[in-house]
Amino acid sequence: MADTGHVAKPIGIFDSGLGGLTVARAIRAALPAEDLVYLGDTARVPYGTRSAETVIKYAIGCAERLLSYDIKLLVVACNTASGVALGELEARLSIPVLGVIQPGAKAGVQATRSGRIGVLATSGTVASGAYERAIHSENSAMRVFAQAAPLFVPLAEEGWVTGAVPRLAAERYLQPLVEVDVDTIVLGCTHYPLLNETIHDVAAELLGHDVVVVDSAEATASALRETVDTGVAESGTAGELRILVTDLPGQFASSASRFLGKPVQGLDIQAIDL
Ligand code: DGL
Repeated sequence: MADTGHVAKPIGIFDSGLGGLTVARAIRAALPAEDLVYLGDTARVPYGTRSAETVIKYAIGCAERLLSYDIKLLVVACNTASGVALGELEARLSIPVLGVIQPGAKAGVQATRSGRIGVLATSGTVASGAYERAIHSENSAMRVFAQAAPLFVPLAEEGWVTGAVPRLAAERYLQPLVEVDVDTIVLGCTHYPLLNETIHDVAAELLGHDVVVVDSAEATASALRETVDTGVAESGTAGELRILVTDLPGQFASSASRFLGKPVQGLDIQAIDL
């Protein structure tokens, strides 16, 4: 990847909606001095149930808009878009493009002891086979078991992340991964880190042994840290976070603060048209 250095240009991040704020949060923690421009395509979410052609078209639209902010690097925070549109974006853009799948895959390979890795993701990401390819590019001996977990998306948006309902959903989605006895589960969707605790606890109970749950948002932020020169980050200057959304849903503030892990008051939020 090209040397991006720390210059005044911001890092662009996009997702199908607000879920990618989990990635923005991890990036802010890893690179606090960097300015970030986050685009959430809230008017067209979800991407996870759409065809690859449609997701590629949407991803190009998001990337082109972010380029108008003179970004130095693009992070594709959406796993579904990373799964189907990364190659197309890399071919079109002259700046570095980082997806969330390869960092998540690498962290999964580093975590596993048994070589049996489960992946929870949207139907679109599972159908793309992107995690299998990414994990096998790290280590071809790994066994990968990908499972779509679509109900986790609305549960995370609703803030319904613990208790009987998410546990029941987790039991259903995890059963196929329990049957093949994985020891590591990669959260291959922007929304799933909010359910991390429930997913971990239910998986460990059903498996009868501990399991490592890998958050691809954290893994992406670590990968980004290796790319961007953090010299200025140590000076203590706080970077800015600007948020662009294609629709301003009524419950925007509560959803955004859940994904960001803090109240959104005082944030620069702007509604745009793509
Ligand atoms: N951002 C999507 C992902 O990470 C999840 C939500 C959606 O389906 O758009 O795959």
